[in-house]
Amino acid sequence: MAAVSNPETARFLNEYLADLSVLYQKLRSFHWNVEGPAFFTLHAKTEEYYDEVAEEIDDVAERILMIGSRPVSTLKEYLERASLKEAPAKVYRAEEIVGHLVDDFSTLVEALHRGIAVAEKEGDPGTVDLLTGSLQRYEKELWMLKAFSA
Ligand SMILES: [Fe+2]
Repeated sequence: MAAVSNPETARFLNEYLADLSVLYQKLRSFHWNVEGPAFFTLHAKTEEYYDEVAEEIDDVAERILMIGSRPVSTLKEYLERASLKEAPAKVYRAEEIVGHLVDDFSTLVEALHRGIAVAEKEGDPGTVDLLTGSLQRYEKELWMLKAFSA
């Protein structure tokens, strides 16, 4: 492989990929373990979320390859690199799921601000565009989750 011209961007993208991979599995767990009056709403919403995150994971991993680096691909490395924490298997009520998602989406929004700055500094507008799209989606979802739980 050619030398990576934007190593900090590649490092950020791998950390972001690790966070998305943890988030994906948490969303599967919430989809399975939600109980209570909001079951149908959150069972469906978490499925929509994990489908979107699966696409985002693929986009981020392929972006890493496009910029000449290699996406982290093992669960062990994801857990080592991620800042999001796993959620244990148990029954989840709506408030708890929304709380986790608000915390995790907020963490991603903060990370995306950092990643956009890094990619700008390294002269990588393609990555800036990819990350800005993600930022806008998570900001919108945060607004909706807060409205749902108001
Ligand atoms: Fe399902």
